[in-house]
Amino acid sequence: MSLFYKIFAIFLSLFIYFPSGQIASYAPLDKDNLKFNFTVISDGHMEGNDSQKHKNYGEGFRDMASAEVISRALVMVGDNTMNGQISETAMLYGLMDKYNKIDNVLMAVGNHEISGNDYNKTEYARLKNRFITFNNTFLDHKIENLWHSQVIDGYHFIILGSDRDDGIQQYLSPEQLEWLDAELKSAAESGKPAFVFSHWPLNHVFSGVWYDGHVGEQSEELRELLKKYDNRIFFFTGHLHMGIFDSGYGIKKEGNITYLNVPSFGSENTNGGETQNTGMGFQVEVYENELVVRVRNFVSHEWTKYEYHFDI
Ligand SMILES: [Fe+2]
Repeated sequence: MSLFYKIFAIFLSLFIYFPSGQIASYAPLDKDNLKFNFTVISDGHMEGNDSQKHKNYGEGFRDMASAEVISRALVMVGDNTMNGQISETAMLYGLMDKYNKIDNVLMAVGNHEISGNDYNKTEYARLKNRFITFNNTFLDHKIENLWHSQVIDGYHFIILGSDRDDGIQQYLSPEQLEWLDAELKSAAESGKPAFVFSHWPLNHVFSGVWYDGHVGEQSEELRELLKKYDNRIFFFTGHLHMGIFDSGYGIKKEGNITYLNVPSFGSENTNGGETQNTGMGFQVEVYENELVVRVRNFVSHEWTKYEYHFDI
């Protein structure tokens, strides 16, 4: 199956996107003192018949490849495709295969990849298997489950998933929670902040935005776990398509945890009052005592005015 996926993906990438002109290189805020950087996008919603989605990913990967200091990791926080279909997923990986230059790519699943719907009447087990097979066909970082992790430059990158189709919410199995506990413990022992990525925000954090579209029943249990080891956690989520605004909307600090909701890369950010366009994601720069989150539009190739600084 993986050979078929590979050929199909490369074939599709020839037809769905044609690059714009050259992209200007862009630099980190303080190149000399940068420890490392990484890129986070979410909700790209790749769709077969939507050329704007093809363009977003194509231009996005090319933009990331134009950085003066190429990111150490790219994390995609779910709803990377619209329906988890083979053709959509092949389009995504085909463009990634052709244009991406970031070595470490970490894929999180979203409800759109694992929930059967009118466009993809397939059950969870097959969709999960498809997600993993594509991942392992194209990426160096091999996974056995929808939850997985990688240590990059001494920092723990922890990716959460859902262990069943729970509609627009998340289900964390006892196995996933036990694994997460061990991962957070190991991250705490490293003395460095942990970076956790999950499609679904905790219930209480951005509760005014799409009330049902959160973790659901297990939100408190997950929060207790995140608080357990007392080290700094940056918890990146997507799902809400809420955009980002001057007031720090989309970002919330609570004890040792900083919650950051990533704007939708592929669909307009309509859940939040003021509609914001597609193409935005986070460029995260890690310094000795500071973490900077800069919001970049990777499709129009420009920084937005949004920039957040956190002591670490
Ligand atoms: Fe989404």
